[in-house]
Amino acid sequence: MNGVSDKSITRRRFIKQSASIGIGLSGAARAVTYNNEEQEGGFMSEKSQSIMDCYGLKYPIFQAAPGGEALAVAVANSGAMGAVSLTWDTPEHAAKVITRMNQATRRNYYANFVLHFEPTMLDAALQAGCPIVQFSFGIPSEDIVDKIRLAGAQLGIQVSSPDNASKAMERAPDFLICQGLEAGGHVQATSPLEDSVQGVLDAAGETPVLIAGGISTGKDIRAAVDAGAAGAVLGTRFMATQESDAHDVYKQSLLDAGEDSTSYTLCFNRDWNAMHRVLRNSTLRKWEAEGCPDTGKKPGEGDEVADHPVFGPAMRYETIPPLQGHEGALEEMAMYAGEGVAAVNDLPTAGELIEELWSEYQGA
Ligand SMILES: Cc1cc2nc3c(=O)[nH]c(=O)nc-3n(C[C@H](O)[C@H](O)[C@H](O)COP(=O)(O)O)c2cc1C
Repeated sequence: MNGVSDKSITRRRFIKQSASIGIGLSGAARAVTYNNEEQEGGFMSEKSQSIMDCYGLKYPIFQAAPGGEALAVAVANSGAMGAVSLTWDTPEHAAKVITRMNQATRRNYYANFVLHFEPTMLDAALQAGCPIVQFSFGIPSEDIVDKIRLAGAQLGIQVSSPDNASKAMERAPDFLICQGLEAGGHVQATSPLEDSVQGVLDAAGETPVLIAGGISTGKDIRAAVDAGAAGAVLGTRFMATQESDAHDVYKQSLLDAGEDSTSYTLCFNRDWNAMHRVLRNSTLRKWEAEGCPDTGKKPGEGDEVADHPVFGPAMRYETIPPLQGHEGALEEMAMYAGEGVAAVNDLPTAGELIEELWSEYQGA
């Protein structure tokens, strides 16, 4: 069961989905255990220690999928778990991303696949040596899991409720991510973390659970660990770093945002009809002012709001956020942010951010 597959969707139109290339399942994935002699001090639960030992991490901190390769490499090389998003890639491009990642870091990182879309690039990613595969918005089929195991890779699944976690556990994942309604970006959760975490932890048993949604500070990470999680996943916070591929306009908007700056909405659904959390901007306000009409009746939906030398034109209500290289009315595009955005007040390098988070964690 791969969720809803829709090969016609071209969220990132520079990358056209094409037929999956064959995979020689020869154990191409790298070994995933490293010596973590540099592990940092500070309170560590058994579960945090165990996931850090397993993946050679210095910190129980995971980056969420967005942000681009440079960010993922910087995060991984700083001792946290880096991440790349491959959902909208062709097999050829996915293989190139994984090859470049493996050349740029000897540390672990994971590749995210949103299962609302057919993972046609998974085989290529595994063949190129993707060490860890992580799924969201669906539970991977047994066939998919077999492929991952045969390739020697590890498996993570994002869940959002105890029921969902029980189903995910049938695939024997190496870790779960529990996402809450507080999260930025596309949100599979329908309840806040406080309603789901304990049930997910119970369903997971000995399997480590990372918590995602609204986490921006070391204090938040410590609270996640105190609640029984092995660590935390941060998306919005890592978008506001030097290495992230977000456009400067988007980064500045994250820095300017306060407590009431985000909305959980279906506004930007032109190419993926799923709930998401974004910064409130002029496109969202105008759509709301007109009563949140359906597609076909949305104000300005024929407008081309921005262009990009590689990704091409972006229409209003498209899911692509303003990335480096975009030109146009960038404020009118989807700028994803979680509820923790008010605590995002600087633009450090990924390494500086991780140090900062860790010192806050230790002080918490
Ligand atoms: C800009 C942005 C893009 C995202 N893209 C994806 C994605 O491609 N796949 C996915 O599973 N989650 C995606 N997410 C959600 C994250 O995986 C994660 O759940 C979320 O960032 C956690 O909440 P936080 O942003 O408050 O830290 C995205 C989040 C953001 C902010």
